[in-house]
Amino acid sequence: MIRAYRAELLSVAHDPRDAADAVRHEPDGLLVVEDGVVIARGAYADLADTYPDAEELPGLVVPGFIDAHVHYPQTDRIASYGEQLLDWLDKHIFPAEKAFADKAHADAVAAFFLDELLRNGTTSALVYPTVHEQSVDALFEAALERRMRIVSGKVLMDLGPDGLQDTVTSGRAQTEALIRRWRGRGRLGYAVTPRFALASSDAQLADAGALLAEHPDVLMHTHLSENVHEVAAVAARFPDSADYLDAYDRFGLVTPRSVFAHGIHLSDRACTRLHESGAGVAVCPSSNLFLGSGHFNFGQADRHALRLGLGTDIGAGTSFSMLRTAGLAYQAALAREDRLDPFRALYLATAGSASLLHIADRVGALEVGQEADFVVLDSAATPLMARRTAKENGGADLATRLFALQILGDERAISRTYLLGECAYKRTP
Ligand code: GUN
Ligand code: ZN
Repeated sequence: MIRAYRAELLSVAHDPRDAADAVRHEPDGLLVVEDGVVIARGAYADLADTYPDAEELPGLVVPGFIDAHVHYPQTDRIASYGEQLLDWLDKHIFPAEKAFADKAHADAVAAFFLDELLRNGTTSALVYPTVHEQSVDALFEAALERRMRIVSGKVLMDLGPDGLQDTVTSGRAQTEALIRRWRGRGRLGYAVTPRFALASSDAQLADAGALLAEHPDVLMHTHLSENVHEVAAVAARFPDSADYLDAYDRFGLVTPRSVFAHGIHLSDRACTRLHESGAGVAVCPSSNLFLGSGHFNFGQADRHALRLGLGTDIGAGTSFSMLRTAGLAYQAALAREDRLDPFRALYLATAGSASLLHIADRVGALEVGQEADFVVLDSAATPLMARRTAKENGGADLATRLFALQILGDERAISRTYLLGECAYKRTP
């Protein structure tokens, strides 16, 4: 079945810092989809003769957003008051995660979470479940039903609190069972997921490294250098390691398939090692602000040419919206006197995150041959946005509109979300 969509089209397939032609924009474009895959894209005037029956989409079409770091079991603990990372985990998060021993609870939260992603224009994500095997099943079953591209994997945490602990043996057995059960199904992928260095024994970190080496098709997903007290605790636990990253490196966890969330407090040595390893960093500005963790250092990351994506880190993050998260990334950059232009922010939220998840051949840029996951953005979603993006206020300029969407926009600016060329969410007017 062939479907053609006429709209303003925008995508950023490469980091604009590296590629002058990274931004692709058709002011009046046509996107043609067959069996969920883009088969043609270009100016409407050039393609209209071949594909005459186009449906007009009301807004700016961009690739579906890709959230490079998010915790689905924390959905119901967003906006938990008063603590920085380690106390916030103990007081608010670990008690909530214990409830995911119950599959029915996990099913209900997973369904809400994925629908909320779609409401926010997010079509793919790298997701933390909990330590419970069935929390992964709940998420993957719900993602399969919705045909979403989701990567996840059971959290490993043999040093976790009571009720949230696994063991090296059970962690490995459940990880292998999940990989066997889910490999090759739908649009799903697996990530070996040690919670963070402090929650796993040396033996479990070593086993995570072994699992990663044994399964070349899986990712590694964890947290890195988020909070100064956490960094100090890691230094105390691993006195022989050069820094936090080195504690992971010793167990074979720093690879091109590794995604580290945060990376705020990094040494230049760690940045050099991240670059040479090809590992990626998921930047999570909303979370960093909420937990008082600090601001990501874009200047340092760019000096070392780090591979970056963007994550909401719900429930430390305070919005599911990748637009809002992009706007906060701009503000985090500016706090350190760096600039993040709106096209690069869009890259981070789409193809940049796709590259971290090793799915950039499938999604993230709306190129011919890619899966047709996309979002219709409404830059006049609120009265204020309509004024700011009006022609007399500079709204004819694409950069002005895109920046306004990121600074003022959120889920209200998502008028539709498409998965594999089919509408999966439509805003009620
Ligand atoms: N570090 C270890 N666990 C977590 C978590 O759940 N959220 C965040 N933001 N950081 C972590
Ligand atoms: Zn996180």
